[in-house]
Amino acid sequence: MTEIEWWDYDDAAELAKAVAGDIQFVIESALDARGSAVIALAGGKTPFPAYEHLAKAKLDWKKVTIIPTDERVVKLGDPLSNVTALAKIFLPKGARVMPIVPEATPDYKAAGGSADALMQDLHWPLDFCLLGMGGDGHTASIFPGPDLDEALNGPRERRALGVMPDPLPPEAPVARVTLSRASIASARALMIVVTGADKRKVLEQAISEGPSSPYPIGRVLADVELPVDIHWSE
Ligand code: 6PG
Repeated sequence: MTEIEWWDYDDAAELAKAVAGDIQFVIESALDARGSAVIALAGGKTPFPAYEHLAKAKLDWKKVTIIPTDERVVKLGDPLSNVTALAKIFLPKGARVMPIVPEATPDYKAAGGSADALMQDLHWPLDFCLLGMGGDGHTASIFPGPDLDEALNGPRERRALGVMPDPLPPEAPVARVTLSRASIASARALMIVVTGADKRKVLEQAISEGPSSPYPIGRVLADVELPVDIHWSE
């Protein structure tokens, strides 16, 4: 069972600054150790103030590659596209921001396969992975439903897979491509960023239930060996 440390903040602004500082430290450590950094950042809304802060950091950004932890199977530029939202912040800094859903891939199963091909030139495991969590306990796009077992227990060399959440999440009712549990769990550093009392309650329960949790994040964390920092504010 992984070691969890909660970091609580009085407000989202304080959370964003602290998370940005921690990610900067992880990137600097990766650059010192390996000369480059490959990090996966969650989509959704919660972590973006932290990403805006991180973008102000003085880093050798051209040596940093950023991928989304998961992606909606939509065209680049679509308001639902996670990589588009990340590119807006980090491309101007000179970072490499890579999609995990190829533009031309019309369906989620093929997108999952192509995502692996897209990511083949990235050193693996990830240097860092930041996860968010939905109210149903999903993380990345590992949702309760028909593809859960494949996302959790597929071949460990599989970096990403196409999933069709059922029911489709209302905030983005489209097919997805997600990092697998193995990709997330093998990251050299893992952080979770959530806000609000309801999500905290779900996350605490998911952690206590572990591999049998109905909440996917509990099953993802059950496979993690390194300590995990959880950053939380109301
Ligand atoms: C996505 C995210 C997803 C997100 C949660 C929480 O593509 O939607 O990667 O896993 O982290 O849905 O989203 P919020 O931070 O917007 O609540």
